[in-house]
Amino acid sequence: YMVDKGNHRHFMEKEIYEQPEVISHALGQYIDFIENKVNPMTAAIDFAKVPSLAISACGTAYLAGLVGKYWFERYARLPVEIDVASEFRYREIPLSPQSAALFISQSGETADTLASLRYCKEHGLKIGAVVNVKESTIARESDAVFPIMAGPEIGVASTKAFTCQLSVLATLAIGAGRARGTVSEAEEKALVRSLAEMPRIMGKVLNSIQPTMESLSRELSKCKDVLYLGRGTSYPLAMEGALKLKEISYIHAEGYAAGELKHGPIALIDENMPVIVIAPHDRFFEKTVSNMQEVAARGGRIIFITDEKGAAASKLETMSTIILPNVDEIIAPMIFALPIQLLAYHTAVFMGTDVDQPRNLAKSVTVE
Ligand code: AGP
Repeated sequence: YMVDKGNHRHFMEKEIYEQPEVISHALGQYIDFIENKVNPMTAAIDFAKVPSLAISACGTAYLAGLVGKYWFERYARLPVEIDVASEFRYREIPLSPQSAALFISQSGETADTLASLRYCKEHGLKIGAVVNVKESTIARESDAVFPIMAGPEIGVASTKAFTCQLSVLATLAIGAGRARGTVSEAEEKALVRSLAEMPRIMGKVLNSIQPTMESLSRELSKCKDVLYLGRGTSYPLAMEGALKLKEISYIHAEGYAAGELKHGPIALIDENMPVIVIAPHDRFFEKTVSNMQEVAARGGRIIFITDEKGAAASKLETMSTIILPNVDEIIAPMIFALPIQLLAYHTAVFMGTDVDQPRNLAKSVTVE
């Protein structure tokens, strides 16, 4: 591929801003926007019949899979077994040959993910691949391929592949829910309408939050450690935020389930470690706010990433509050991924690191 940066300083920046476009392209493959329905699913995997689903992947793709687990369990009532590929393949997980397995990989060449795939194949499971590179080994060895259509991703830090993986997983979970009778036609229509709105909302968010993220990043670039907290689907997002920041800015960061704060990481809280709280105004909001209170009471500085309703509902003093539009629950992970990506990006720019080619990292990890 011949790909250039266009008007952007780095591929990562270009790929962040490309998201509305590539996602609408991806969704177009999976959704019938006239009927507001998910397109008929592949016959290779019978989601109506499978007793469970196994998901395996590495890094950012794994975190997309973790969000997917919440969706498959909630919308399709399908139990999901998920692990990072380097553990999955060695854990000797009892797997039913009636089950299906999904492997998520941007490159489609990650060695551990491929080994997990082969392990599941040997156990007789039906194999699905959520990949960006359609000609990849993982795609070739699968029974069903679900392309994410993100286009070439050059930046080592994955951005658009993550939100495209999420978009595809959301449609698969809704489709599985329809097949299993756990999502009604009316619910499907509502969910699909929310997905259809997503690219436009993403564009709006990307156009409005950049200056805030840039000035916040100046503060972050002075820190040695950062903690990210989230609950529900915001929990994998917290881990994704931490992964992104450490990869390209080399600042130590941890992503934690908000409820786990008092089981350990609260001991680290002081004025030197910013706590980034990802909390849309969903059914977990009040719980997360009480975790924020615990942080505030110990002098912790909070960067609060929320929506309009969340900002109105919380009276806590924060170092900064980033207010996103109120969106339906199904698209919140993709919308909330944007400030997280920009925060990591601008912090790395301030640090002067090699944003697209961070030290010690490879775009595709083909060794075990
Ligand atoms: C993401 O920012 C990372 N560079 C990394 O975690 C990546 O997601 C992981 O190596 C998996 O790669 P894949 O999607 O190509 O399998």
